[in-house]
Amino acid sequence: MIPEYDIDIAPLTTFGIPARAAALVRWQTADDLRDALADGSLPRPFKAIGGGSNMLFTGNFGGTLLLQDCSSEIGSDGTVAAGMELDEFCRLTAEAGLRGPENLSGIPGTIGGALVQNAGAYGVEIGEFLVSARLMNLNTGEVMTVDRDWMNYAYRSSRLKEEEDRFIIIDAVLKPQEADALARIDYGNLRAELGNAAPTPMAVRQAVLRVRDSKLPNPAVVGSAGSFFRNPEVDPAVLTPEMPRYMLPSGQAKVPAAWLIDRCGLKGRRFGGAMVWESQPLVIVNASGTATSADVVGLENEIIRTVRDRFNITLVPEVEHV
Ligand code: EPU
Repeated sequence: MIPEYDIDIAPLTTFGIPARAAALVRWQTADDLRDALADGSLPRPFKAIGGGSNMLFTGNFGGTLLLQDCSSEIGSDGTVAAGMELDEFCRLTAEAGLRGPENLSGIPGTIGGALVQNAGAYGVEIGEFLVSARLMNLNTGEVMTVDRDWMNYAYRSSRLKEEEDRFIIIDAVLKPQEADALARIDYGNLRAELGNAAPTPMAVRQAVLRVRDSKLPNPAVVGSAGSFFRNPEVDPAVLTPEMPRYMLPSGQAKVPAAWLIDRCGLKGRRFGGAMVWESQPLVIVNASGTATSADVVGLENEIIRTVRDRFNITLVPEVEHV
């Protein structure tokens, strides 16, 4: 475990926005991680980074980034390393004929990052498959095992998201649904895309990848951090008749942020090198390849202001600002 110093962060993220980190430690085992935490010469604070697919560094980071180098295997008891690519997990479980994770196919990033923010797509959230996770306390180096209840999962949130500066995930036990579970294809146009009553997990995976390809920017071609905003949960009083909504048990309504941004005429809107993606306006892209964090934040603020003025709804970013 040899620390690297004065790191270019851009290639560690899917956004590709320039920023530097004071140090980076690539770790493999819990022992490596404990050694790093005990090393007084490493700059503080410590911060975990996975695929860097949901992060915006709004300036240079003065601490140490912790990145897990790990194997992409699923243990016989369902253990996966935090640093494993989420999509690799989806591919392997679909190949094995197991249900559930195939709906998360194509989401960039790692298992660890996905578990912290409860990544979701097409009616499935990763939190539902969590049996247990091993965490290391960043302050004490202690390891503890927590279960799904501890994580307190909700839409794009978890207890770990609130306490991210205290814990880092080492690995987790995930349990997909059995092969005889029904395919979950009632979200959006997934069923139409499949046109088949009982698709295999692999067929669902392929359909999800096709739908994503048609709407979302390919991270290999244009930088982004996926959905930039959460879908807001609003008081029914602010709904307008034409506004799409999904009623929640709480009595609040969830409204697609993409619709609000679209209605404000912001598709394709540019601010410096940043742009609102045309086919999914919930996504801000690094259109020029040279966008700065100031460009992204400038566009973010313009979107928030425009949507608030028009609909009296305040969008909240989903992407973590570091
Ligand atoms: N819409 C428009 N105009 C558009 C595109 C969409 O009005 O140009 C409206 C439509 O009403 C559409 C609605 O937005 O029905 C919802 O769009 P979509 O189904 O594409 O999903 P989303 O709610 O915008 C969420 C996740 C995505 C995930 C998709 C599919 C969040 C913040 N985003 O987006 O997750 O892939 O559902 O399940 O919940 C991510 O988190 O990075 C991400 C991409």
